[in-house]
Amino acid sequence: MKKVKVAAPATVANVCCGFDILGFAVDAPCDEVVLTLTDTPGVTMKSITGDGGRLPLEAGKNTASVAVQSYLNAIQESTGVAIELIKKLPLGSGMGSSAASAAAALVAINALFDDRLSRSELIVHAMESERIACGSAHADNVAPSLLGGFVLVRGYAPLDVIKVPIKAKLFCTLAHPHLELKTEDSRKVLKPTISLKDAITQNGNTAGLMVGLMSEDYELIGRSLQDVIAEPIRSLFIPGFDQVRNLCKEAGALGCGISGSGPTMFALSKDQHTAEKVGQVLKAHFAKNNLNSDSHVSQINLDGAKIIG
Ligand code: HSE
Repeated sequence: MKKVKVAAPATVANVCCGFDILGFAVDAPCDEVVLTLTDTPGVTMKSITGDGGRLPLEAGKNTASVAVQSYLNAIQESTGVAIELIKKLPLGSGMGSSAASAAAALVAINALFDDRLSRSELIVHAMESERIACGSAHADNVAPSLLGGFVLVRGYAPLDVIKVPIKAKLFCTLAHPHLELKTEDSRKVLKPTISLKDAITQNGNTAGLMVGLMSEDYELIGRSLQDVIAEPIRSLFIPGFDQVRNLCKEAGALGCGISGSGPTMFALSKDQHTAEKVGQVLKAHFAKNNLNSDSHVSQINLDGAKIIG
């Protein structure tokens, strides 16, 4: 096989209480990559569509090509690779756009090398591309985009990534206001230290969310979807954040918050009908604030990136 097409899903990182350590994948939208092995050595970005001409074609700057180069270095191969990237995720949205491109490219190159590495072993190569994209090699988008499901990054040194055995059936609403927020910028606004009180609150919520997901305790999931570290600062970028969060809960959501570094908001609900109603609430709120938005409802995607051609 010399050519393969892969789709990799959007992801919700942080999930309120798990800054840089929790994330899950959704069914849509997905970035797509067509990867072809060539006789000319070197990794090249052949084309990018769907980005409005804004992403770099330079191989050392694009997350897909950086990830593939890191993979080839690791397996000590120097074959030529041409990458066609079909962007379906909006840039700077907080839905793991750069991560999805890297995850799709990695699953593609790995398929062309007979799955020489496991999905978990691909994570470090995708993290390299996050470093290029925003200056921080966090794994809470790339890991769920590669592995699917709900993922916990228990540690970074050494990397210890766990796919959480969730029992809860959840529907995720994503509402993306047409604002762009660079992850790099929304990381810079965070304080470098937190208080002991906040550490205790955040740890309690993270542990509560894990137990809730594994024991199908929806009330506990709802109570645990709180962030006292990033959200109080980042929510200032989202007009009427506190108000719309309350409206989502009134509409039946278990909880809601900022997806990744924002400005997309996510909500979790127990059924599709509620998740769609919450999407309407979020869209109406953004419209009231003169912002167009897109919304998506999906279950948690359990498989991650997949070969589609
Ligand atoms: N955990 C990262 C952050 C995710 O919040 O900055 C970026 O999408």
